[in-house]
Amino acid sequence: MDFKEKIRVIQDFPQPGVRFKDVTTLLKDGRAFHAAIDTMAEQVKDKEIDLIVGPEARGFVVGTPLAYALGIGFIPVRKAGKLPAETVEAGYTLEYGKDRLAIHKDAIHPGQRVMVVDDLLATGGTIRTTLDLVRQLQGEVVGAAFVIELTYLNGRDQLKDLDDIFTLVQY
Ligand code: PRP
Ligand code: HPA
Repeated sequence: MDFKEKIRVIQDFPQPGVRFKDVTTLLKDGRAFHAAIDTMAEQVKDKEIDLIVGPEARGFVVGTPLAYALGIGFIPVRKAGKLPAETVEAGYTLEYGKDRLAIHKDAIHPGQRVMVVDDLLATGGTIRTTLDLVRQLQGEVVGAAFVIELTYLNGRDQLKDLDDIFTLVQY
């Protein structure tokens, strides 16, 4: 399957000069969505993962079906102030903006094997922060998986301590 062909590119969104990779056009194509999740599941299925952790919002859209396909649990990472129980938090910088992310303190037991998942790797700030939250809870991060990687933003530089990074489509 040519996944790149399914991803729409929007010029000058959300600001001039950005070529925004729009994953919604892949998601609305049932066969492409299914194939994308199955391909990711196939790539990571032998890594003995206990949990998938994904940041809102689009990390949920990719992370939950992947967890379901693997028969394991999903843990949401949310913008600070959204999760109802006790949390740990960390700050991050985006390609265009800043925010704080949070995870439930009891979401991960020490030593559990975690894969962090998002729709897209850009500067790496979001996934780096997600990874730091997992490690604050003493989870073992066994890798990261994305549908899209924007290689020109060098997000992998933030993930040098990870052995396994899976991306379906690279720009
Ligand atoms: C986008 C995308 C990733 C992140 C990647 O999310 O879904 O989570 O940016 O950028 P980075 O690698 O530079 O951190 P966004 O923050 O726009 O939030 P959303 O998923 O709620 O739309
Ligand atoms: N597409 C979608 N999400 C993004 C992008 C992009 O090009 N850059 C940062 N987040």
